[in-house]
Amino acid sequence: MKISIPLFSVFLAALLAGCSPKDDTEKKIDGLLGKMTLHEKVGQMNQLSGGEWLVESAAKGEVGSILNCVDPKEINAVQRAAVEDSRLGIPILVSRDVIHGFRTMFPLPIGQAATFDPELVRKGAAIAAREAVSSGVKLTFSPMLDIARDPRWGRVAEGSGEDPYLDAIMGEAMVKGYKEGGLASCVKHFVGYGAAEGGRDYNSTLLTERALRNVYFPAFKKAINAGAETLMTSFNDNDGIPSTGNKWLLTDILRDEWGFDGMVVTDWNSSGEMIAHGFASDLKHATEISVNAGVDMDMMSYGFISFIEELVKEGKIKESRIDDAVRNILRLKFRLGLFDNPYVDETAVDAYAPDALEAAKQTALESAILLKNDGVLPLKKGRTILVTGPLADAPYEQMGTWAFDGEADHTVTPLDALKDKFNVIYEPGLSYSRDNSTAGILKARAASSRAEAIVVFVGEEAILSGEAHSLSSLNLQGAQSELISAMASTGKPVAVVVMAGRPLTIERDLENCGAMLYSFHPGTMGGEALAELLCGEAVPSGKTPMTFLRTAGQAPMYYNHNNTGRPNTGTETLLEDIPIAAGQTSLGCTSYYLDSGYGPLFPFGYGLSYSSFEYSNLTLDKSKYSAGDTIMVGFDLENTGEYDATEVAQLYVRDLVGSVARPVKELKRFGRITLKAGETKHVTFELPVSELAFWNADMEFTVEAGEFQLWVAGNSAEGEALSFNVI
Ligand code: BGC
Repeated sequence: MKISIPLFSVFLAALLAGCSPKDDTEKKIDGLLGKMTLHEKVGQMNQLSGGEWLVESAAKGEVGSILNCVDPKEINAVQRAAVEDSRLGIPILVSRDVIHGFRTMFPLPIGQAATFDPELVRKGAAIAAREAVSSGVKLTFSPMLDIARDPRWGRVAEGSGEDPYLDAIMGEAMVKGYKEGGLASCVKHFVGYGAAEGGRDYNSTLLTERALRNVYFPAFKKAINAGAETLMTSFNDNDGIPSTGNKWLLTDILRDEWGFDGMVVTDWNSSGEMIAHGFASDLKHATEISVNAGVDMDMMSYGFISFIEELVKEGKIKESRIDDAVRNILRLKFRLGLFDNPYVDETAVDAYAPDALEAAKQTALESAILLKNDGVLPLKKGRTILVTGPLADAPYEQMGTWAFDGEADHTVTPLDALKDKFNVIYEPGLSYSRDNSTAGILKARAASSRAEAIVVFVGEEAILSGEAHSLSSLNLQGAQSELISAMASTGKPVAVVVMAGRPLTIERDLENCGAMLYSFHPGTMGGEALAELLCGEAVPSGKTPMTFLRTAGQAPMYYNHNNTGRPNTGTETLLEDIPIAAGQTSLGCTSYYLDSGYGPLFPFGYGLSYSSFEYSNLTLDKSKYSAGDTIMVGFDLENTGEYDATEVAQLYVRDLVGSVARPVKELKRFGRITLKAGETKHVTFELPVSELAFWNADMEFTVEAGEFQLWVAGNSAEGEALSFNVI
């Protein structure tokens, strides 16, 4: 039996909006549109990179938005030309990639996701917005909502990882935060971009409608419901159709089904790139396809400004489509108050305020994930420690990718911060993450004789992750693993801190240290946060937002996969144990790798603490639920260790039998729970049955009746299952 979740609410809202009298903004838009020539309309649809040199285009009404200019004086100069010198005085929209902070750099978005703390993420986005707006920026190309299941893809740094629910919650938090700070957001990249084949950036994807609806769409929909003002198309082609030319995506889904009335912008020249895709014959053709698919604004292909007028005259694009696009652009400008207040106060630039630095530090603290600890951490304050490794004092690198406006001389490195807490001997060992020379390692080894413990800071330089920076091997680069093993060979306690843009394959390094703390590039205040964690002034609470692999060859590997018909049994024979001349079917024929087994190195949601936690008394309020019910999930969480600490409790479900196979687990709720040492709390998660809905075999969004399992645990691989039924 199927219980349908009504979809008509969106249609109803659209219908009502259609019937209601036009509000003031819509009337103003109509008024302005009525005065615009086709050339001026097309000018609004043009987004260009640069600053003051665009003054002339602005005065002619040939540019609607600029990006990559953050100098208030230059911004005001362009704005003045648009408002005072152009015929209609329509202000310019200033955009920028404010991805994880503006001046104060917060941890990478993947690190922010590791906090499982949407409230803190919202606060960070509000601060980033405040700083960016004070420089004249009005729109950020963030949040990136791409589901990332393959750490070879360098852009995993920019999103919230592999889980649709966590992604949606974090995306919503960012949109709300930006809005609070007066900055419009742009959800990107619509859609499926993170599923690039082989993890190689820009590569094709092959996602079915059901996969899009169940996995890739939800975060976009939630962000739009939270008020995201704009959306960016993605570079990839899905099943042969580049997103920038995909009418089904940009019109049927986005406008007609979801009722989005914001602005759609291309990615950088993604309209022009449809020529290289083999989907458009030339820039004019690409323009025709993009505009007719539903794109409103062209980022940097120059196709719209060059060809739309001709295409309208030839009848290949209807002027009504252009009017709709311009309406979407003007609506945004009105909503942002640009017509009333187009200029930025050149004397009021806001950067590095105490609350910004505090929030950035708190985010870095909560985002660090303790992957291993055999008692090495925390280190007792005041001891003599050797600090080594190429990331110990790399202020630029620790800001990570997309830190255009961050300034390395404002960054606190671990070396700076550790000096306040320890007697520090510093010997870098390697000068950058790809450094292969071993001379420095010998020096570090020699210096270790004077130290009681060693902290090794390794990872990736900022350039190794982010856009176009894919990797096929995910081991630590250069001689970093050699540095770690040289430190292990001293016999001193060794703690390793990894600062990287993605989950690296660090299994061999784990064997050579007593403790490992994983910090996705932590930003401006990363050093202070890490120093506090290392000395025990703070206790780690971050959890992995992506599965950590043993080898890059396991990718894509993610916790919420389908089961297959031959799931592994956990008793599979590995390469070294296979007898010579083994019979073809003697290994059992299940789904695993002969060389790396089945499981990952660390599952999704994993992270240790200096304390320990015990889950008990998991109960449900009923055993059978109907469509309108809410499942009340209760459990006790005890802090069984010696530190006051925070645990991220996670609720997962499995729909055992579906009209299409369902994932083995899906995250449905999580919460950060802080407990004093020895304290127990009773916790309740509420889960409406409606949230068990999915796009089924008939492409209906429904909850299918039947048996479900439910877990509450500290990561996606633990916990005892409880069963319940939906009737
Ligand atoms: C990226 C986008 C970014 C845009 C503007 C593109 O290359 O894919 O994510 O927002 O550039 O800088």
